[in-house]
Amino acid sequence: MERLRVIGGHRLTGQIRISGAKNAVLKLMAASLLASDVTIIQNVPRIRDVEIMVKVLQSLGVEVTWDDRSTLRLDPRQGIHYSAPDELVREMRASVQVMGPLLTRLGRVKLFQPGGCVIGQRPIDLHLKGFQALGAEVVEEHGYVYVQAPKLRGAEIHLDFPSVGATENIMAAAILAEGTTVIRNAAKEPEIIEEQNFYNRLGARIRGAGTDMIRIEGVSRLQPKPIEYTVIPDRIEAGTYMLAAAITGGDLELEEVIPEHLESLTAKLREAGAEIVTAEERLRIRVGRRLSAVDVTVLPYPGFPTDLQPQIAAVLSLADGTSVLTENVFGSRFRYVDELIRMGANIRVEGRSAIVKGVPRLTGASVIAPDLRAGASLVVAGLAAEGETILEGVAYLDRGYEAMEQKLQAVGADIRRESDAPVETEMVV
Ligand code: UD1
Repeated sequence: MERLRVIGGHRLTGQIRISGAKNAVLKLMAASLLASDVTIIQNVPRIRDVEIMVKVLQSLGVEVTWDDRSTLRLDPRQGIHYSAPDELVREMRASVQVMGPLLTRLGRVKLFQPGGCVIGQRPIDLHLKGFQALGAEVVEEHGYVYVQAPKLRGAEIHLDFPSVGATENIMAAAILAEGTTVIRNAAKEPEIIEEQNFYNRLGARIRGAGTDMIRIEGVSRLQPKPIEYTVIPDRIEAGTYMLAAAITGGDLELEEVIPEHLESLTAKLREAGAEIVTAEERLRIRVGRRLSAVDVTVLPYPGFPTDLQPQIAAVLSLADGTSVLTENVFGSRFRYVDELIRMGANIRVEGRSAIVKGVPRLTGASVIAPDLRAGASLVVAGLAAEGETILEGVAYLDRGYEAMEQKLQAVGADIRRESDAPVETEMVV
């Protein structure tokens, strides 16, 4: 069992280099299933979710090798299967992103139903409705979802909610469909633009990603050529470190970021009193005084990201005044609140909102990360809390943050990883 030990009260100063985006790389890896030649992906973060996606792709028949520490080579030329092992799908919901590419490539896909997850109900009904609109037959039985379509046809699809995963899966499924597909109320996340660009490099004809209407003109075949693609920086990792700097009254420069992807957070932090300066691929945040309370409403991109909501709650728990955080994307994303309360925060959850009354100080405590971003929130809180915070559930952090404690140590944080020493038994003779 591993845990993090954080001793709070150190200002973060210096530079942090941001890794490739988890939520982009996982989808690019899935998208490579549509290539008939090798795909090389650069700037890949070494995180657990990437390892799981490697296993998913290997189970489907892709040959996966690391060319160097951050470069993945994916070779699907041995042939691809239509079903991945249940335990991998169970372990990582993002495995469902192989559905669209497999449906296009093989005309069928079978996966274990991913079901709910700790941050709320996460159905895939919008993905499946999209496949059906394109002419696929969907059967859900015995815990599996089976989708098949000997022939897909372009369609007009209106999403009830701008789901990131559904937009991506439907986009992939429409690439070789006959005629044109239009996805309305599409998700606008930057990761979707990356996928559009990747597929277009393969010969697809997609435009509109980044807006709420994506148009896919079906093509008869994709080009059998190798592709090299570099993953964009992780805006959620960058946002987490901005909030870590903010809570410690630090002065931090982030390298290899796209400041435009962080505008909703930058606006909120400036409103609260932080000084933020951006340049191409760099962002500097300085906080010289106690931050003021601000209200935050979580919305799909370009709104404030749900994946930074727990971390900003930690920062606002020390701000001057009362903040209201409203979560509009996931149902159960306040599971970190009880842990922050254990550290001295004053937070009350009412339905989809958390009312955060700023307190003058937090105190270190033993806490447990209930999910990935909640874990990040507790690290952020621990960096400012008086004394020692022991965080369990570190495996969650490893799913999405590359070398988190090394990056934080390098800018002055007192944080280290510990594991239970193996029990030593003395041999009695
Ligand atoms: C992705 C991100 C996740 C982020 C989320 C929202 C990845 C690997 N994960 O998740 O980090 O928090 O976007 O920005 O990229 N919904 C339905 N039916 C569906 C699909 C979704 O009701 O078929 C609902 C979900 O329950 C949720 C909301 O839509 O309440 C948003 O989900 P979605 O945008 O699909 O998130 P993911 O793609 O799963």
